[in-house]
Amino acid sequence: MNTSTVGINCEPFGTTLDGEEVQLFSLENDCGMRLKIINYGGIITNIDVPDRRGTIDDVVLGHDTLEGYLTRSRYFGALIGRYANRIAKGRFVLNGVEYSLAINNGANHLHGGLKGFDKVLWEACEIDNGIHLSYLSKDGEENYPGNLNASVTYSLNDANELRIEYFATTDKDTVINLTNHSYFNLAGAGTILDHELTIYADAFTPVDTGLIPTGEIRSVSGTPMDFTSTTAIGAHIDSEYEQVRIAGGYDHNFVLRGELGELRTAATLHDPKSGRVMEVATTQPGMQFYSGNFLDGSLVGKGGRAYEKHSACCFETQHFPDSPNHPSFPSTVLRAGEEYRQTTVFRFSVT
Ligand code: GLA
Repeated sequence: MNTSTVGINCEPFGTTLDGEEVQLFSLENDCGMRLKIINYGGIITNIDVPDRRGTIDDVVLGHDTLEGYLTRSRYFGALIGRYANRIAKGRFVLNGVEYSLAINNGANHLHGGLKGFDKVLWEACEIDNGIHLSYLSKDGEENYPGNLNASVTYSLNDANELRIEYFATTDKDTVINLTNHSYFNLAGAGTILDHELTIYADAFTPVDTGLIPTGEIRSVSGTPMDFTSTTAIGAHIDSEYEQVRIAGGYDHNFVLRGELGELRTAATLHDPKSGRVMEVATTQPGMQFYSGNFLDGSLVGKGGRAYEKHSACCFETQHFPDSPNHPSFPSTVLRAGEEYRQTTVFRFSVT
């Protein structure tokens, strides 16, 4: 039984351009872990965790002020919806109707469009050991069908687990794929190239040059995509393997082992220097492992730090990108009256 009592604080964090007030929630447990979340974009702004000596560092990228998130963010820490990752040419057909979404990434639709769930204000309230966020995405918003009632809870316990629970219902058939886009660096500085990674996936979904899945499910075996045994992220990141070249590193959906809907470990990340470990567990069928390839040092974040290429990595638990156009992928259709539920847990420890 979870008997932890997490302290929760709420303070103002500025106002959006529309004059809406944003709140910052701080959650702290008895084991030295602290989490900060704002209701704009449902963004996790800080995750403070101890290293093996007990020194606390913030292990996620982000900004010190709301202005940074409003004007120069790369989805740092944000909730992504309605559809995480890409939909080819922003088009899909559902129940015989073709839907056209915003093209905001090359020729494709990315992370829910021009104003995705990362850029809206969520209604927030405190719950036991966490916070509950909700957002009504109206029928036709970003051209997606159906009034979608989405809610996400973030909670913390004394096992240093951050649990994210996603829930949604719709009044018209629609597609949905929610995730969180935190950028992790367990050292709190430098790059993640020395971080050691295990991904519990025997296959991945190869992409074309626009990072759209080709439909193939390819074995990772004998390729730089093989993280089934622990490997430093930087070990093969400069490989000539076409998939790594196309993405400038890793930016791929891994097909997770185990049953869809069952909470099982997807990945383990370890920073040998600090001793920090992060385990990712999820009910989702896939996980986008992104090695921060689009960061190039031009974006300055918390504490005036310029975020260089590979200065963090993301583990976006998800359904496969472009599923609405790939009937062979697990379905992302949410029918009217059905319930969408997913859970992802990030668990921090040290070695
Ligand atoms: C995901 C995508 C990447 C990139 C980042 C945000 O990881 O797959 O291609 O868009 O989000 O920059």
